[in-house]
Amino acid sequence: MSQTERDTSAMAGHYAVIGHPIDHSLSPLIHRQFAQDTGQPLTYDLLPAAADGFATAANAFFAGDAGAVDAPAAGLNVTLPFKEQAAVWVDRLDPAAQLAGAVNTIRRAEDGTFEGFNTDGSGLLADLQTNLGWSIAGARVLLIGAGGASRGALDALLSAEPAQLVLANRTLAKAQELVVQVAPAASNVRVCAPAEVDGAFDIVINATSASLGGQGALVPTAAVKGAQCYDMLYAPTQTVFSGWALSHGATWAVDGLGMLLEQAAAAFLLWRGVRPDTTSLLSGRNDLFGAKRAGFHSLAAWLASDEYLQWQSDPGAAAAAQAVEQGTGQQNRVERQKGQFIAGAVCPSCREIDRIMVRETADGREQACVACGFSQPAPSTEASAGAAAVDSALMMPKGKHERPASLVSQATPVEEREKIQAVRFIDPADSSKPNT
Ligand code: ATR
Repeated sequence: MSQTERDTSAMAGHYAVIGHPIDHSLSPLIHRQFAQDTGQPLTYDLLPAAADGFATAANAFFAGDAGAVDAPAAGLNVTLPFKEQAAVWVDRLDPAAQLAGAVNTIRRAEDGTFEGFNTDGSGLLADLQTNLGWSIAGARVLLIGAGGASRGALDALLSAEPAQLVLANRTLAKAQELVVQVAPAASNVRVCAPAEVDGAFDIVINATSASLGGQGALVPTAAVKGAQCYDMLYAPTQTVFSGWALSHGATWAVDGLGMLLEQAAAAFLLWRGVRPDTTSLLSGRNDLFGAKRAGFHSLAAWLASDEYLQWQSDPGAAAAAQAVEQGTGQQNRVERQKGQFIAGAVCPSCREIDRIMVRETADGREQACVACGFSQPAPSTEASAGAAAVDSALMMPKGKHERPASLVSQATPVEEREKIQAVRFIDPADSSKPNT
C-alpha cells in the first residue's frame, strides 16, 4: 500500500461531488456502484453550491451540516467551476494538482487537514492506454483547448512520452501560459492557433467546450484524417466532435465517459484504499445513462425497476432486468460485459455508438462493429501509467502552490462561465457533459 492509500475498509465515510450546477453529475451513481462492487461502507451525494459558494459549502459539508448522514464527511469530488478554488482551499496538494493548479478530489486526512489531488490526467491516460489500447509513446498527439480540461491532462500526456504534442487553442496566450506553467522545459511541445495546426496526427484529443455549442470543426481536417480521436466530453449519443472527426477520416472517435470513470476510480482508491474495477460500468454505459435519466438512486435500483424493462427494447436486456428481480441481476450484468465493447466508440462505418467490440481472430485482435460488420485491426494494449501516477503521488507543501498572476487575469469571468454551463446542462440526459 503506497503513501497515498489507506486502509479505510472498515470505516464508514460520507462523500459528495460539489459543483455549480451539479444535478447533471453521474458521480453519485458511479461511486455508489463502486461501493457496492467493493463492499465499502460509504454514502455519496450531490453537494450543490452557489456560484461563489465553494468554501461555504465545503466547510459546511466537512462540519457535518450538509445532510442527515451518520458517517463522517471524508472526501469530496470537485467539478466545474470550483477545481481551481479547491486547489487554494485545501492544505496540501499532490504533484498533479499542484502542476494543474486544480483539484478534483479532496481527502480529509487523519489529523483533520485537507489534501487535494487531481486524478483527471491519470484518468485520461488510463482510458486511452488501458481501456482503448492507444499508444501515446512515440506518437504525434494534438491536444485542442487550454481550459480546465487541458490543465489536468497536459502533464499526464507528456509523462507517456509522445514524440510531439501540439497544444492548439483559440486564445493562443492561454495555451502558452499553460505550457509555461506545466511543462516549461519540454522540448517536444509546440503551441499554436487551431488554424495553424498542420500535418497528420496519431491521436487527437478535444478538450474544448466548443461542441457544446454545436461546433465540431476546430482544426484543419488533415489533423484528424487517419487519427484516433478522443472527445473529453461524453454523451449517451455521438458527440459533435466525434461526428465531425469521423466524417473527415478519423479511424476512431471515442467520448470521455471512460475518463470520467477512471478519474472516479482513482479518487475512490485515494479515499478507500481499494481500486474499483471500471469494466462493468464502461460496458454498461447505457444502464448508467438510463439510471440518470430516470432519476434512480443506484444502478441496482434502476436495473430492478419496471421502467428499466420498458426502456430496454432488446430481449436479452429485458431478461437481465428480470433476473435482478430474482436476485441474480448483478451476475447478469457481468455476463453482458464479456463482449468487451469499447465504451463510447462510434463505428466509422455505420455511426452507431457502443457497438464496437474487441475480439480475437486467427490474425490477431480486431475491433468489429456488431451493428454493420465493419472491422479493422485493434491497436496493441499497453500498461497504464495512469494508476501508477496516482499511486506514487506525494503530497506537496501548500506554500509552493502559486498561480502566475497572468493566469489569474486570464480566468473566465463568472458570468461567462455561467453562460457556458447553462448551455452545457440544459438536458441532463441527452446533452454532452464535461468530465467529472
Ligand atoms: P474551463 O472552464 O474548463 O477553463 P472553458 O472556459 O469553457 O473551460 O474553455 C475550455 C476550452 O474550450 C478553452 O480552451 C476554450 O478556448 P479559449 O481559451 O479560446 O476560450 C475552448 N473553446 C470554447 N468554445 C470554443 C469555440 N467555440 N471554439 C474554439 N475553442 C473553444
